[in-house]
Amino acid sequence: MFLPKIKDIERRYVKMLVSLAELLYEAQKKQYAIGAFNTPSLEAIRAVIAAAEELSLPVIISHAEVHQKFVPIEIIGPIMLAAAKSAEVPVCVHLDHGRSLELIYKAMDMGFTSVMFDGSNLPYEKNIEVTCQIVKDAHHKGISVEAELGTMIESEHSTEITSSKSDINYIYTDPDLAADFVQRTGINALAASFGTVHGLYLTSPKLDFQRLSEIYKKTMVPIVMHGGSGLGEKDYHKAIVNGVRKINYYTYMARDAGETIREKLTELRGPVFYHDITSWAIDSMKQHAMKVMKIFAMKSY
Ligand code: 13P
Repeated sequence: MFLPKIKDIERRYVKMLVSLAELLYEAQKKQYAIGAFNTPSLEAIRAVIAAAEELSLPVIISHAEVHQKFVPIEIIGPIMLAAAKSAEVPVCVHLDHGRSLELIYKAMDMGFTSVMFDGSNLPYEKNIEVTCQIVKDAHHKGISVEAELGTMIESEHSTEITSSKSDINYIYTDPDLAADFVQRTGINALAASFGTVHGLYLTSPKLDFQRLSEIYKKTMVPIVMHGGSGLGEKDYHKAIVNGVRKINYYTYMARDAGETIREKLTELRGPVFYHDITSWAIDSMKQHAMKVMKIFAMKSY
């Protein structure tokens, strides 16, 4: 269903800008997950690609629609694409949580190799209708599509989720609906909600692995974990064993970089130069990305 139409995939799996489908094909075969890092700055792009190169692992760099306020796609998009093209490892350039069709089509026209349509706020049939149109246009150009079913909430609202069944069923992805959604849309990857939240975790996460496993078994497409930063190693591994192949990651890496800069500035005597701040940020994000990429790769280093 999600298999790319490229015959000689092994031969092409070298330094290059690749589609999400190509990376997921490998991840599916080898049973691991690929880190998908939001990169709303030059420092984040350089850090994540350097981490992937050092570990010889493929990676996904993502521009999120909510990060348009930090840097618009017209500026960061070409930088992401140029960095991917000159990387020593396969890199997919992805649009994350696209709700605006204008932005999705802009990303596709610019050369992004993957887009996510987030129609999770739409009525079910409307989500299918729009996703189908995007899949048709994207696949025609060799671009992959991720779509979402269920709701990914922000951490500040996570404490509002009670264990009441109706809340959970509204927020978490329903496995039977997911099977119908994937079958009717032909998407390459499904963003599923099973207990992770975007942002800092205010209470320790409790993931519904039973639900995840059912979603995967019923859809057989690679599952995307959103709100991927801030979990423990065991949870990542359990999620991967149960079908997660793409882990969206940002908040904890960005916080580490911010905290590193705060510490360095406190220790610093004498003048502070902005270029030093960018180097500290790159180094911190690179180390952080390497640490989690090793976990996602499911092998010992
Ligand atoms: P975190 O910022 O919570 O790691 O989530 C990232 C994400 O899911 C992007 O889509």
